[in-house]
Amino acid sequence: MTTLASKVQISAMERYHLGEVQRVDALVYVRPWSIAMLRQELDKRDSREYIVARVDDTHVGHAGIMIIADEGHITTVAVDPKWQRRGIGALLMIELHRYAIDRQLEALTLEVRVSNIAAVALYRRFGYAPAGVRKNYYSDEGEDGLIMWAHDIHLPAHKERLDAIATEVATR
Ligand SMILES: CC(C)(COP(=O)(O)OP(=O)(O)OC[C@H]1O[C@@H](n2cnc3c(N)ncnc32)[C@H](O)[C@@H]1OP(=O)(O)O)[C@@H](O)C(=O)NCCC(=O)NCCS
Repeated sequence: MTTLASKVQISAMERYHLGEVQRVDALVYVRPWSIAMLRQELDKRDSREYIVARVDDTHVGHAGIMIIADEGHITTVAVDPKWQRRGIGALLMIELHRYAIDRQLEALTLEVRVSNIAAVALYRRFGYAPAGVRKNYYSDEGEDGLIMWAHDIHLPAHKERLDAIATEVATR
């Protein structure tokens, strides 16, 4: 049986992907980045890693990480609503975490809207725990941002966690 995970191809984001990236961002974010902002991010190759997920030739999602010293900040994880809840967000996170481990990072962090139940649940699966709240972090609606951290990602237990999630997604 062919599973969806076996059909998902993850690759480096390139400029020619940005139209599709913007299309998906506009569907899932209240304030999506413009193409110009996306391009600026993509051009910071030494401190950023952006990836896209495709099924056949369809762009289904994307994600990114910013490296600051020995820490990584997840900047975006977005899956086209038509493709959500099928393991694509998890596959993108696995890829970013493996990239971070290869870069010898030991901790990852991110901010998420306190109301974003789906993303918080996804991040918890990857070992992130709440570490604080930034009041009114999202200026559009004055919503608080939950700061989450995943520590010790370089240790074997975290690799085992990633492998277990990959196995689970592969058998869906
Ligand atoms: C968050 C997001 C990236 C998840 O992508 P996805 O492909 O649907 O996620 P997956 O199918 O890989 O789900 C992985 C896990 O995340 C959690 N999860 C995902 N969607 C969920 C939902 N709607 N409700 C509860 N948990 C959810 C679950 O733990 C899920 O595992 P399970 O299916 O075994 O229960 C997606 O919902 C999205 O693009 N949201 C809009 C953009 C966004 O808010 N990004 C985060 C910004 S900080």
